[in-house]
Amino acid sequence: MSEELIPETPEEAAEAEPIKQRKNGLYPGISDELAENMKSGWADTELHGLEPIPQAVHTAARRAALSARFPGERLVIPAGNLKTRSNDTEYAFRASTEYAYLTGDRTQDSVLVLEPAGSGDRAGHEATLYLLPRSNRENGEFWLDGQGELWVGRRNSLAEAGQLLGIPAKDVRELPAALAEATGPVRVVRGHDAGVEGALTDKVTAERDEELRVFLSEARLVKDAFEVAELQKACDATARGFEDVVRVLDKAEATSERYIEGTFFLRARVEGNDIGYGSICAAGPHATTLHWVRNDGAVRPGELLLLDAGVETDELYTADVTRTLPINGTFSPLQRKIYDAVYEAQEAGIAAVKPGAAFRDFHDAAQRVLVEKLVEWGLLGDLSVEKVLELGLQRRWTLHGTGHMLGMDVHDCAAARTESYVNGILEPGVCLTVEPGLYFQADDLTVPEEYRGIGVRIEDDILVTEDGNRNLSDKLPRRAEDIEAWMAGLKG
Ligand code: GLY
Ligand code: MN
Ligand code: MN
Repeated sequence: MSEELIPETPEEAAEAEPIKQRKNGLYPGISDELAENMKSGWADTELHGLEPIPQAVHTAARRAALSARFPGERLVIPAGNLKTRSNDTEYAFRASTEYAYLTGDRTQDSVLVLEPAGSGDRAGHEATLYLLPRSNRENGEFWLDGQGELWVGRRNSLAEAGQLLGIPAKDVRELPAALAEATGPVRVVRGHDAGVEGALTDKVTAERDEELRVFLSEARLVKDAFEVAELQKACDATARGFEDVVRVLDKAEATSERYIEGTFFLRARVEGNDIGYGSICAAGPHATTLHWVRNDGAVRPGELLLLDAGVETDELYTADVTRTLPINGTFSPLQRKIYDAVYEAQEAGIAAVKPGAAFRDFHDAAQRVLVEKLVEWGLLGDLSVEKVLELGLQRRWTLHGTGHMLGMDVHDCAAARTESYVNGILEPGVCLTVEPGLYFQADDLTVPEEYRGIGVRIEDDILVTEDGNRNLSDKLPRRAEDIEAWMAGLKG
């Protein structure tokens, strides 16, 4: 259904003639009688006196921090729009992280605007949410437009949204005029809403907009109490998803990695909003491909399954967890040797996560253990551990960094500056992954044949606390013998 049928402004909507004809419709024209009939006979379902969502107190604090950083400037943060998948079907919508972080809302086409307000000591911003309101029944958009509520479901009214989110809401169709009239400095978060950016082309610069994006990325480095609880929820649901997979490994053997992907996805959709990233369901040699998301390979007893998957909660916080499991329930001696090395490296990495430590420390600690093992196994000739570390030769088999920030984005805070992230110091509230791995490609002639095609990663989500750290994903076993016992228990 064409969007051209939607009136552009609330005034046009109020004055519009009933829409009588679908532009490319499969159905014949709509009679005046039907158009008239559809206008009325609907109950008033407006809700009153709604309590704010639990997150509202946190989103208010986040907006206050943003306001303090950019006094006197108009700040525009879009949620983003639907993206076409094909013809008239769209991808599932996921609101921009910046918008959801500052509002707690997750509706498409919405925009948060912070307008400078007050002066002197009282200078700050007034927040307004621009949202698509409930559908107009008078002009037919309710049932004739593709975004009409008859098709997509009831939306909150502007008043309801204002109460729930603690932010006054206006019709998003008023936004173009509001932006056109705006004077003074403006910044927008780019990459989410081309229409909003287009309306601001003459008022913004790339450098200034980047400063806004960087600020919102760095603001998320330290999680508040609500966010920590969400990450715990994500990890707990993820643990249940891993259990689901272990229970159906025999069925996966009869089909493919897809069975594992689908099994985990069911848990993600039942307990959360979605998966937080494409599940990596990598059996056998596929485990050596870091982003194996095709998930169309065979699942064979005797091989390992590397499962890297995370549930994203309804509030859009994701876990990022990896376990490497023996498909038949028992590690072979060589699988176990490699697994234990990665486990030891992860233990060293997790121990290095504490307040006051450098972000780089846990990577260095884990890499050193892996290098010690590779040297001990004779894979690096006569080179010493120090020499290998100096030359970085282990990276042929360790491939990636040992972890990253975690939050609403799986690779969270990605726009943070080097000095505040990679070269930064850990503090309580930071949440990161510790995920060392060893990967011997199937065609790697530099390792003994029996190593080839084995990949192992263990990944946990670690919160920095006042006195050390807490493993949010510790409901899943990590030690090899605990993995085997856990799998045996689940398969019954
Ligand atoms: N699942 C992506 C990662 O571990 O970083
Ligand atoms: Mn992962
Ligand atoms: Mn990760």
